[in-house]
Amino acid sequence: MKIILLGPPGAGKGTIADKLKQEYGIPQISTGDLFRAAIANETELGKQVKSILDRGELVPDELTIALVQERLKESDTKAGFILDGFPRTIPQAEALQTFETLDMVIDFRVRDGIIIDRLTGRRVCSQCGKVYHIKNMPPKQEGICDICGGSLYTRSDDNPESIQQRLKTYREKTEPLIAFYSKLGLLKALDGEGSVEVVWERFKKLIK
Ligand code: AP5
Repeated sequence: MKIILLGPPGAGKGTIADKLKQEYGIPQISTGDLFRAAIANETELGKQVKSILDRGELVPDELTIALVQERLKESDTKAGFILDGFPRTIPQAEALQTFETLDMVIDFRVRDGIIIDRLTGRRVCSQCGKVYHIKNMPPKQEGICDICGGSLYTRSDDNPESIQQRLKTYREKTEPLIAFYSKLGLLKALDGEGSVEVVWERFKKLIK
């Protein structure tokens, strides 16, 4: 299965991708995670993109396309992949069409008020990357990952200013992809509101 998870920041793409990769055994390719890993490792790419991510703006298309194209050459993508956060612009989508054939694009629909609540309450494990939410999916012990015991942190772009900018960027640059993939007959809309379990059940029905 070659699938794209499309939707605004905080819509739950990463949360569903995590379940999907476990169920189907295919890799989740999150451009956001790739950029954050580069920042954490202080690579040349990380230095270039850090301030862009913190502001909630988009990394230039050329850099992002090259990164994904390289990642898709790895052997673990042969049986399929989940693209989480890519493409995010029309040029990225057009480039992807030249090197991949997709099965479907799932468009997560969630209202802004819910998105803001999800993003301001998100906490991420500094060691294994597991994602929590202080109200919706709290860890058993505050600030500590249930899985590996790592400490939880708030992403540097999960602050009110960056969230507003990310929503604006999404409307301007990414929302046009809904029409792009709809024209290609690949788009399926997912109601992304409700608990994780409810959304996951809806998602599984949609991709069958
Ligand atoms: P990226 O990391 O992709 O961030 P994003 O799109 O803003 O998406 P998020 O990770 O914030 O949200 P999500 O939908 O995965 O939500 P999650 O499942 O975590 O990108 C970050 C930055 O990198 C961009 O701003 C840009 O600068 C750069 N970048 C990345 N890709 C790029 C590209 N292609 N081109 C250019 N630049 C790029 O859920 C959020 C919270 O809600 C969690 O706490 C979770 O526990 C909770 N939650 C999830 N689902 C539910 C539910 N159903 N009910 C209750 N709570 C829920």
